[in-house]
Amino acid sequence: MKAIVHAEKDGFDGLSLCEVEEKTPKAGEVRVKLKAAGLNHRDLFVVLNRHKHTDPPLIVGSDGAGVVDAIGEGVTSVKIGDEVMINPSLGWKEKSDAPPVGFDILGHPTDGTFSEKIVVPAENVVTKPAYLTWEEAGVLSLAALTAYRALFTRGKVQSGMKVLIPGIGSGVATFMLQFAKAAGATVYVTSRSKEKGEKALEIGADKAIDSNGDWDMELNGEKMDLIIDCVGAATINKSLKQLRQGGTIVTFGSSTGDMIQLNLREFFYGQFNLLGSTMGSGEEYKEMIAFMEKYQIRPVVDQVFPLEQYKEAFSRLETGKQLGKIGFYIG
Ligand SMILES: NC(=O)c1ccc[n+]([C@@H]2O[C@H](COP(=O)([O-])OP(=O)(O)OC[C@H]3O[C@@H](n4cnc5c(N)ncnc54)[C@H](OP(=O)(O)O)[C@@H]3O)[C@@H](O)[C@H]2O)c1
Repeated sequence: MKAIVHAEKDGFDGLSLCEVEEKTPKAGEVRVKLKAAGLNHRDLFVVLNRHKHTDPPLIVGSDGAGVVDAIGEGVTSVKIGDEVMINPSLGWKEKSDAPPVGFDILGHPTDGTFSEKIVVPAENVVTKPAYLTWEEAGVLSLAALTAYRALFTRGKVQSGMKVLIPGIGSGVATFMLQFAKAAGATVYVTSRSKEKGEKALEIGADKAIDSNGDWDMELNGEKMDLIIDCVGAATINKSLKQLRQGGTIVTFGSSTGDMIQLNLREFFYGQFNLLGSTMGSGEEYKEMIAFMEKYQIRPVVDQVFPLEQYKEAFSRLETGKQLGKIGFYIG
């Protein structure tokens, strides 16, 4: 079968589309013939930083959807022919304060979804809602799950809240915008791109402001109940300035850098809450899919490539041209 493999060289030079051997599911596992897969910022980190040429070859990718084509011994929850989406959160079943020891994400260190077939634990596949196309189902798992936990479990978003989402170009951010609107919040977003801001307004944002502009002026003194900032160093202090006293800021990403300076006095006088979040559990994954189905939420799909065009797909993500999800169609 064909797969996008990272091997022998570090960075993008180590990526190639090649023939690899199909695997057979062991007890408790299923094999999925993939129809579509999705790219995440994590795939860039894996290829550029985490997976080294000295490591065994790795099939990249965390998101995917397809049809079950083989099941291992003892699997009763799914059968051959079922249309499923893959939850990339490995070893984290129930909602909890943090993932348990042994938690991992599909696509590093274990083989991922940029492949014609994949073997995963049966507990990691969930029935694909019929209203989603294969491409929509294939691109959503990691980003939508992260958005769901950050917004609901950690941020405790509620109807009537004012929510600010910096960097709306991010795949996770577009889900947060859709989820927060469905939950009844007023949602403001920022972007460096006027065009992405305009698209966000079409998706439902109540206001889109320039990430590089003067947020005090653009928000006209309005303060936020909840801010979910995954841009990191470039925006976190601007975000904090827009939080109401006692408000909450959730972070789960730092695309522009991990290190920040924090004015502690302003922080404690403001009685602010700063929460970390990461991915989500199997329980949250199921809740998230039910929520999406209830509100008929469709992922914002930026562009979908065949596996052969993996270089173009990675380059689009690396240069940040996308709004929403970049995907691969496979079968
Ligand atoms: N912890 C987890 O479980 C988890 C899961 C998923 C993602 N993440 C992290 O969350 C982050 C978002 O991931 P992603 O794949 O959705 O998106 P991404 O491609 O990293 O996009 C981040 C967004 O940040 C904005 N941005 C980038 N550079 C900026 C700058 N210099 N100034 C202002 N804004 C800037 C851009 O928005 P505009 O183009 O609109 O300006 C961009 O679209 C990443 O850091 C990722 O690693 C973490």
